[in-house]
Amino acid sequence: MHFFSREAFSKLAPLGAILFDVDGTICDSEPIHYYAFREMLQEVGFNNGEPITEEFFSANISGKHNEEIRKFLFPDWDHNKSTKFMDDKETLFRSLAKEQLKPVDGLHELCKWIEDHGLKRAAVTNAPRANAELMISILNLSDFFQFLVIGSECERTKPFPDPYLKGLELLHASPDNTFIFEDSASGIRAGVAAGMPVVGLATRNPEQVLKDAGASLLIKDYEDSSLWNILQELELSIAKKLEA
Ligand SMILES: *[C@@H]1O[C@H](CO)[C@@H](O)[C@H](O)[C@H]1NC(C)=O
Ligand SMILES: *[C@@H]1O[C@H](CO)[C@@H](O)[C@H](O)[C@H]1NC(C)=O
Ligand SMILES: *[C@@H]1O[C@H](CO)[C@@H](O)[C@H](O)[C@H]1NC(C)=O
Ligand SMILES: [Mg+2]
Repeated sequence: MHFFSREAFSKLAPLGAILFDVDGTICDSEPIHYYAFREMLQEVGFNNGEPITEEFFSANISGKHNEEIRKFLFPDWDHNKSTKFMDDKETLFRSLAKEQLKPVDGLHELCKWIEDHGLKRAAVTNAPRANAELMISILNLSDFFQFLVIGSECERTKPFPDPYLKGLELLHASPDNTFIFEDSASGIRAGVAAGMPVVGLATRNPEQVLKDAGASLLIKDYEDSSLWNILQELELSIAKKLEA
């Protein structure tokens, strides 16, 4: 789709590992989060009972960690009440996800390619652990990911680099041979800060926002020919490594 730096990928040879964000990157979960927030916020009279808009959701909620969202939405509520709201919202999200969650187009072909080429892989997310495990399981990727890194279990969540650095450490992978798939500005910043090129998925967020956050390539989904061009280029270096 759009390259901003092809060089960023060619110099990864031989490619050794790939890190994936979860929400919006392996599945289009954002509409489910939006629906759950909209219904539940309206129920508690947020914004005088006017439903939140998609623009409000995208600017103020999407890609953020729950603690940050909780404080933003309910600065005046007591801690237990707002925490319970967030927990209930996640329960609603999980029940909807079981019926509605779909992989991003081309994901399973990409995962097969990664397995066939013996690359290491981990999922790195700001989502609560129960959500992340459920989404990965619905998508049949529980055996695919070798590790799952949860932002709130690290010292700092995305947009800090900590979760991505933790992923590298668990996989014994180097940032010089690893790239990342992400869909949010906050996640792209985390990946860039951890020293790796990031492929931005323009599933929901505006292209300009992803570009400004530092994505090296933007794709619509995993069927994108720009992505497969890079993979084919890197394939030659992986084959040499396997022979050696
Ligand atoms: C985000 O929240 C702020 C503070 O409530 C609000 O003023 C702003 O309009 C919201 N952004 C959008 C795009 O709705
Ligand atoms: C908040 O929840 C904790 C743990 O459930 C409880 O011990 C505490 O008393 C609660 N605080 C208030 C103000 O309700
Ligand atoms: C996961 O596997 C089950 C059972 O093989 C299958 O019915 C389902 O369609 C798969 N889901 C995805 C997203 O591939
Ligand atoms: Mg995301």
